Amino acid sequence: MFFYKSALQKDRDYPRGGKNLNKKAIVFGGSGFVGSHVADCLTANGYQVTIFDLIKSQYILPEQRMIIGDILDQKAVLKAVSHQNVVYNFAGIADLDDATTRPVDTVQLNIMGNINIMEAAKDRKICLRKFNICVQPEGWVLPL
Ligand SMILES: NC(=O)c1ccc[n+]([C@@H]2O[C@H](COP(=O)([O-])OP(=O)(O)OC[C@H]3O[C@@H](n4cnc5c(N)ncnc54)[C@H](O)[C@@H]3O)[C@@H](O)[C@H]2O)c1
Repeated sequence: MFFYKSALQKDRDYPRGGKNLNKKAIVFGGSGFVGSHVADCLTANGYQVTIFDLIKSQYILPEQRMIIGDILDQKAVLKAVSHQNVVYNFAGIADLDDATTRPVDTVQLNIMGNINIMEAAKDRKICLRKFNICVQPEGWVLPL
C-alpha cells in the first residue's frame, strides 16, 4: 500500500486499512520524527504497535505500547522483538552536525545498534522491513 503524507502536515490522520489486526510491529526509534510517523501509520493500518526508544514519544497514541530502552542493549532488543511479527528501525543519530562532532557514537549507534536489531530479528525469525521514504515536493510515499 502506498499513500502520501505531507512532511509539513501536523495532523496524523493516516488512511486506515485495518487488515492487520493480529499483527504486531515494533518501531525502534519510534519517538523520533520518521519513526513516530511510521508508528502512527502502522496503527492506522491495524497493527498492534510497540515503540522502543530512549525517550518517551510525545506523539504516542493510546493504543500504542512504549518501551524505554537502548538499541545497544542486546538483551533488551532481543526481549523487545520477541512475539513481534514485523520490525522497523529508525533509531540512531540522524543529525549530520551530531554525526560530525560525535563520529564514534554515530558509528556505534547507527551500525552496531542496527546490527543488534537485525541479529535479534534473525534469531526470532521476524520480518525486518527496510524501506526508503521517498520525500517529494507533495509529501512522503511510504510502502506498508
Ligand atoms: N529526517 C529525515 O528527513 C530523514 C530522511 C531519510 C532518512 N532518515 C533516517 O531515518 C532515521 C531517523 O531519522 P529521524 O529524523 O527520525 O531522527 P530523530 O532524531 O528524530 O529520531 C531518532 C530517534 O532515535 C532515538 N534513539 C537515539 N539513540 C537511541 C538508542 N541508543 N536507543 C534507542 N533509541 C535511540 C532517539 O531518541 C530518537 O527518538 C535516521 O537513520 C535518519 O538518517 C531521516
